[in-house]
Amino acid sequence: MTVKAAPSILSGDFSRMGEEVIRMERAGADMIHCDVMDGLFVPNLTFGHKMVADLRKYATTPMDVHLMIVRPERYLDKYIEAGADRLSFHIEATELITESLERIRSADVKAGIAICPETPIEKAIEYFDYCDFIVVMGVHPGFSGQKYIPETTERLKFLRSEISKRNLTIELEMDGGANESNVREIASAGADIIVSGSCAFNSPTPEKVIQTFRGID
Ligand code: DX5
Ligand code: ZN
Repeated sequence: MTVKAAPSILSGDFSRMGEEVIRMERAGADMIHCDVMDGLFVPNLTFGHKMVADLRKYATTPMDVHLMIVRPERYLDKYIEAGADRLSFHIEATELITESLERIRSADVKAGIAICPETPIEKAIEYFDYCDFIVVMGVHPGFSGQKYIPETTERLKFLRSEISKRNLTIELEMDGGANESNVREIASAGADIIVSGSCAFNSPTPEKVIQTFRGID
């Protein structure tokens, strides 16, 4: 079993973001996770599409953009233009879920839904036909460095089994609270991609952390 590692730039030094992208790619990142927060959907503000467009020039791996904003349909085009390769938004943040997924796909960008810990996981099934990946939150969105919510593992297993039953190729991305001690459990539950924020950025040897995330067999 191999897992892709997606370091989240949210844990990087905001005064040197381009260098942080390069640092994580040298350490073995498979993609760069960009956490966009609006201070409304979550109690934190980060950055917008200009940051994504500017970082796109530094990245050689895909840009995985995770929108934590109210009514994401207002900004999808901006993030597509900015060069997002993968674009997800929260199903709790909009009523236009299938429309938004269709819009993203129509631009040849991988479309994802993100789901908060308190939202019934069965809700995700309704969008299987419209999405390429599902971001299963392992923490309440808003900040990096939070503790992994243990029930997330069962939620991942449930979705993995529902996806397999239908012979679909939807990827599962686990976001929040991953570290070197729980990454094996998360991967075994069926995650294809694991986001690492604080764990990768705060380590003096991010290449070792990323290797642990990716090298699971
Ligand atoms: C949380 C963000 C996550 C976060 C992950 O709202 O979506 O991507 O940065 O950070 P860690 O790995 O530190 O939980
Ligand atoms: Zn995220």
